Amino acid sequence: MHIPAIGLGTFRLKDQQVIDSVTTGLELGYRHIDTAQIYGNEAEVGKAIADSGVARDSLFVTTKIWTENLGRDKLIPSLKESLSKLRMDQVDLTLIHWPAPGDALPVSAYMEALAEAKAQGLTRAIGVSNFTIAHLRQAIDAVGAAEIATQQIEIHPFLQNRKLADFTRSQGIHVTAYMPLAYGKVMQDAELQRIAQAHGVSPAQVSLAWLLQQGFAIIPSSTKRSNLESNLRAADVALSDADMQAIAALDRNERLANPDFAPRWD
Ligand SMILES: NC(=O)c1ccc[n+]([C@@H]2O[C@H](COP(=O)([O-])OP(=O)(O)OC[C@H]3O[C@@H](n4cnc5c(N)ncnc54)[C@H](OP(=O)(O)O)[C@@H]3O)[C@@H](O)[C@H]2O)c1
Repeated sequence: MHIPAIGLGTFRLKDQQVIDSVTTGLELGYRHIDTAQIYGNEAEVGKAIADSGVARDSLFVTTKIWTENLGRDKLIPSLKESLSKLRMDQVDLTLIHWPAPGDALPVSAYMEALAEAKAQGLTRAIGVSNFTIAHLRQAIDAVGAAEIATQQIEIHPFLQNRKLADFTRSQGIHVTAYMPLAYGKVMQDAELQRIAQAHGVSPAQVSLAWLLQQGFAIIPSSTKRSNLESNLRAADVALSDADMQAIAALDRNERLANPDFAPRWD
């Protein structure tokens, strides 16, 4: 399973705004779109994709199962509903969005239900998001590491999440970095501004290039054509070892996605 390194995030984007972002993204060359049941925008994402004329088999579409749908009786029906909204027979990747709040359900139960969704052809691949090391160990025990196509976690210069990213990769599992721009905060950082200026690019491109050079997939979001375009061009930025080290020093454990049902982080 090849996950395109640069995807388009859609969190917070609703109605016409998400239609415009996905339409423009597809025009510019994005071929990987990241949505989720809880974003409330799967129908609009599906419409934008259908209207774009881009062939389904050249696209990589991810959705995520919301916490309320983790039960064995709910997971597959909820994914079928997502597919109907997205106007697709199959998504490329389905993630468990968060471990069950308070671990009210065992990891093995929802990972097995997700594997069953794959066996039924509803999704080409399966994966996880916001799993701690302990959750990931249980997921591996349930379905095997080879079945887990990616773990999607928050990573940006201010939350580098090294322990979790390193453990995930030590199991042979690919990592996708979400909120790769720290929701725009990277633009204000003096060190990222300095590196950006030296390369004639923006701090956003520096943050994305830093993630790409470590082998992570990235899914930045934007409502602006110019930002969508420049984020895609981050793949052309070549940071030096010194740049990479300077950015590594910016880690300050600043977590942005931390809802009250989040697990106990590593
Ligand atoms: N699995 C999970 O639990 C989880 C959690 C959070 C997010 N995600 C996924 O990750 C995606 C990305 O995270 P995110 O959308 O929260 O944050 P993000 O991509 O880090 O940042 C988006 C923000 O940065 C701004 N921006 C984008 N490109 C820019 C550029 N080139 N220059 C300056 N500003 C720029 C955007 O504003 P403009 O619109 O003005 O460009 C927007 O305010 C989400 O959309 C979602 O798909 C997953």
